[in-house]
Amino acid sequence: MSGHHILITGATGRLGGAIVATLADRAPGRVHALVRRAGDARAFADRRLPTRAGDYDDPATLAAAFAGIDTLVFVSSPALDPGVRVPQHRAVVEAALTAGVRRVVYTSAFGAQHDPGHATTEGLLLDAFDRDGRGATILRNGFYTEPFVERALAEAEAGRIASAAGDGPLATASLRDLAEAAAAAALRPPREHVLELRGPAWTYDALAAALAAALGRPVAHERVAPEAAGPLGPLQALAARGLLAAETGDLAALLGRPPRGIVDVVRDAVP
Ligand SMILES: NC(=O)c1ccc[n+]([C@@H]2O[C@H](COP(=O)([O-])OP(=O)(O)OC[C@H]3O[C@@H](n4cnc5c(N)ncnc54)[C@H](OP(=O)(O)O)[C@@H]3O)[C@@H](O)[C@H]2O)c1
Repeated sequence: MSGHHILITGATGRLGGAIVATLADRAPGRVHALVRRAGDARAFADRRLPTRAGDYDDPATLAAAFAGIDTLVFVSSPALDPGVRVPQHRAVVEAALTAGVRRVVYTSAFGAQHDPGHATTEGLLLDAFDRDGRGATILRNGFYTEPFVERALAEAEAGRIASAAGDGPLATASLRDLAEAAAAAALRPPREHVLELRGPAWTYDALAAALAAALGRPVAHERVAPEAAGPLGPLQALAARGLLAAETGDLAALLGRPPRGIVDVVRDAVP
């Protein structure tokens, strides 16, 4: 294999799939997808994208999957239990070292310092790769904007969206921007080792207004208790306390443009 080869884990998922799509355009012929199932490998092959077979739970598969890869875009496992996630992630880091991977871009999360799975992985990566000409970039992804918009869009049919966020701002990020940022970091290593990727903050009043504009009918924001707000209630409660308000400039710097705001994500979601 010649050239700089990039492998993306979690390639069948929402974020990894979007990273693969972005990189396939920008680095044709050098992008590989990690998959677990033969059917997924065939689907990528139909798009002329090479795959490697690998499972975080089966370390022996990983070193073989990473052979000849220069940059690994490591999308975190969906396993929230650190008892599962940490051994999975340790296996990925060790296999990457064994295989001679030069750089790792890891998609971590907002608040990683307080999350044992992400904090341990970040430490392992910075210890192992921040030396000998290797490198690690930690992208602390903010909460995706899309699930907030998708749920609100479903509710907006009834002319109202419920939230427990009050006037609390949410500095989330669109999945599309996060995918583009990971692709950019894979192609052009940023100077900083740890980046906090969040977009412009929005409120539920602004989301209701954006939905009303996109749908062409009134949409009200109804303030409810977290227990009555559905699966996003706990995050909305954090927003109400001002804990999701902090914006950062890292996403804009990596993208080289302003990140997409709530109006952009609403426009994408409205058919
Ligand atoms: N920022 C946020 O708001 C947010 C929200 C949700 C999740 N996350 C985190 O970000 C990650 C990516 O998000 P997403 O929305 O793309 O998640 P997703 O759509 O659930 O994708 C998860 C990916 O991980 C792969 N995977 C699961 N277990 C694996 C294993 N044992 N070995 C190898 N691959 C495995 C899945 O492959 P299969 O198709 O083979 O199952 C899939 O490709 C998540 O895993 C989670 O850590 C962030």
